[in-house]
Amino acid sequence: MANKKFTVSSFLESKKKGEKISMLTAYDYSTANLLDEAGVDSLLVGDSLGMVMLGYENTLQVTVEDMIHHCRAVARGVRRAMVIGDMPFLSYHISIEDTIRNAGRIIQEGNAHAVKLEGGIEVLDKVKAIVKAQIPVMGHLGLTPQSVNMFGGFKVQGKSAEQAKKIIDDALMLQEAGAFAIVLECVPEKLAKIVTEKLDIPTIGIGAGKYCDGQVLVTQDMLGMYTNFTPKFVKKYADLCEEIRGASQNYIREMKEGKFPSDKHTFSIDEEILEKLY
Ligand code: KIV
Repeated sequence: MANKKFTVSSFLESKKKGEKISMLTAYDYSTANLLDEAGVDSLLVGDSLGMVMLGYENTLQVTVEDMIHHCRAVARGVRRAMVIGDMPFLSYHISIEDTIRNAGRIIQEGNAHAVKLEGGIEVLDKVKAIVKAQIPVMGHLGLTPQSVNMFGGFKVQGKSAEQAKKIIDDALMLQEAGAFAIVLECVPEKLAKIVTEKLDIPTIGIGAGKYCDGQVLVTQDMLGMYTNFTPKFVKKYADLCEEIRGASQNYIREMKEGKFPSDKHTFSIDEEILEKLY
């Protein structure tokens, strides 16, 4: 695995060379460190942290402060992977000035290398403004979870001709506005293929099939650590729920039976010193 840092340019080079881009979510230092060591190209500090880390029902309650806090931890854990911080709900909806300030904070205080935001034509002026402020932007189309109330639930997007056309048009407009890549979430595989072929910038799929230029998964889903809801597109590469439950039960049992801590996990003191203490 190459040690060269993965950057915005690497995203574009990978697409040109036909090399798939790997992305996973991360929200904390030690996981970021492990994933970086494993060789992942990019880590997304997604606002999915609201559900996975904070136990919210959806992503809408996540704040810029939350994002900065988790971005900082992740950024400390990586050496090679590019860190992308999500712009949470309402952080880019009010005004251009507010948007640039919030994107800037995720970079300046959160130490992320780029930001991601959801939407197409509706947020185009914001994307342009952030890029103009020299902050790389990743787009996000299809099932955009911050619009869950508009969609009436977490549903596949782009199945009707009208929706599919809008996703293609939005993708082209985001590219034109300066986005360096676009996440396509929960859209039919063949639609993602069309979008991927039409764009010069890479598409990163999640529930969007094999033709995207890269893939992203929520790490806790992929590792089998978050079982509240598992979407159809998730492949579990491990069952850490079982591992964690089993290890915790062993700890509790051994501790109650007096088997832990053993001599191996205990510090000793000189007998002479000890005698004086009684
Ligand atoms: O918040 C997130 O983790 C995301 C990914 C699912 C793409 O936006």
